[in-house]
Amino acid sequence: MDSHASAGPQTVAPLLKGQKALVTGANSGIGKATALALGRAGADVVVNYVAGREAAEEVVAQITAQGSRAAAYEADVSREDQVTAMVDRMVEEFGTIDILVANAGLQRDAAFTEMTLAQWQKVIDVNLTGQFLCAREATKEFLRRGVVPEVSRSAGKIICMSSVHQIIPWAGHVNYASSKGGVLMMMETLAQELASKKIRVNAVAPGAIRTPINTDAWDTPAAEQDLLKLIPYGRVGEPEDIAHAAVALASDLLDYVVGATLYVDGGMTLFPGFATGG
Ligand code: BGC
Repeated sequence: MDSHASAGPQTVAPLLKGQKALVTGANSGIGKATALALGRAGADVVVNYVAGREAAEEVVAQITAQGSRAAAYEADVSREDQVTAMVDRMVEEFGTIDILVANAGLQRDAAFTEMTLAQWQKVIDVNLTGQFLCAREATKEFLRRGVVPEVSRSAGKIICMSSVHQIIPWAGHVNYASSKGGVLMMMETLAQELASKKIRVNAVAPGAIRTPINTDAWDTPAAEQDLLKLIPYGRVGEPEDIAHAAVALASDLLDYVVGATLYVDGGMTLFPGFATGG
């Protein structure tokens, strides 16, 4: 067996050799799995975090052990000065940026009439404005550098981490659902605006994935059973399910995919209630 086969199903062939990737919110959950998978695929990776330096350093150590270069950069994606400084530093230390996975996101749930402006604003700031700022700064570098054919057929790839809630309304989470609805239209508009510059913008829309953001939804057998009613495929997703989608979208295998959302949700967006009703 070659080294890829023996490493098991988590392995992704070195599709991204020579590419430099930035993953925001990469010290836990989907971001962490994505940073690791990009590393396994041969990319060098900047592991962004806003709090939790040790966890970020641990991700860096794992990527380095796999043979790629990595570094942890602290930045709040909702702060323009910090995003600009982060991308500038990456260009200085890694030479450029080829792949942005705009992943950092959070929830601040509340019933509508209880929701404070601060809860609304925080979620919009991180989930939507954060992606805008990171995409804008990455795009400036993509445009400056242009296509380097030995590295990739495109000048850069942006992968927006969205959610099934970009199209599924979600009572009690109006801030979150609105932010992801915004991500959908931002992603498609950027894809349209940047395609002629050979920049590919796409999104991954996860369903229920086993991460810290939604522990309550799966950490007891009763909660998990309830959740599974929404998932035709019959299992809660793992962070690697999303990571592999991001790697594929970032690679030249999917070079003709522009402005698409890849739902990775075990069928959650298929209106499972209609399997037996309607
Ligand atoms: C949310 C999770 C939720 C999932 C499916 C995600 O975007 O962050 O909390 O479990 O959507 O509803």
